[in-house]
Amino acid sequence: MNIGIFDSGIGGMTLLHQAMITLPKENFIFYADTDHVPYGTKTKEQVIGFVDEVMQFMIAHNCKAVVIACNTATSVAAEIMREKYEIPIIGIEPAVKPAVEQSAGKRVMVVATPLTIQEEKLKNLVKKVDDAHLVDLLALPRLVSFAEQGEFDTPQVEEYLREKLSSFSMEEYGELVLGCTHFNYFKNSFRKLLPPHVRMIDGSTGTVNQLKRILESRGQLEENEGNVRYFASGREWTKGQDLKRIEMLHKRLEYMRSV
Ligand code: DGL
Repeated sequence: MNIGIFDSGIGGMTLLHQAMITLPKENFIFYADTDHVPYGTKTKEQVIGFVDEVMQFMIAHNCKAVVIACNTATSVAAEIMREKYEIPIIGIEPAVKPAVEQSAGKRVMVVATPLTIQEEKLKNLVKKVDDAHLVDLLALPRLVSFAEQGEFDTPQVEEYLREKLSSFSMEEYGELVLGCTHFNYFKNSFRKLLPPHVRMIDGSTGTVNQLKRILESRGQLEENEGNVRYFASGREWTKGQDLKRIEMLHKRLEYMRSV
């Protein structure tokens, strides 16, 4: 059987990349909902509808578990999908708790999409762990379109981030939480703008470890060929140029692991 991993776009490959390292013998279906990207500027109802379609696709493609590799989709749709479908659904969330624990009293900046930031789920999570009121939230929607256009190391990206961070005194921060899977592609640009002591953290490793634990506890870990099939809103990526793009993105994600 397969493990389904999906996002609105290429951001979810952050999680797929980690999953291929942790579970190299599993077969994966990766689904980027490119017809509907970005999710982060849509309504909650629209995103719930898109996620439901993806879930049906995953079930039709023999998935034993589905990972929502999209913080935005998790925040609005994970609970609803868990009520509707029987297979395990694991959703990535901004790593606010570990960030607050590690920040040693310094401030924590959470960057995410506008929808993730306005939703109750993140607000409740922050309320639960942020007794000292150290957490700030910042929406960075343009990073999603930059990533989808394949624009990573341009002056425009750096200018956008510089402008967005300019109203914060970043010296006061200890952690930057990457609360959108598209943002991992820009770790090097963040690094240039952040003081050296600020650490970047995201939820992919924790989510993949949770996936592994759940499959283990259900006796569903498998020794397969480690195949990955890639789909863009249901259409399989098979052309040479698509496969080249996938390879380039995996290379970039491998490089980002060292940033
Ligand atoms: N990558 C997604 C996330 O983690 C959302 C990007 C978008 O579609 O706005 O939130």
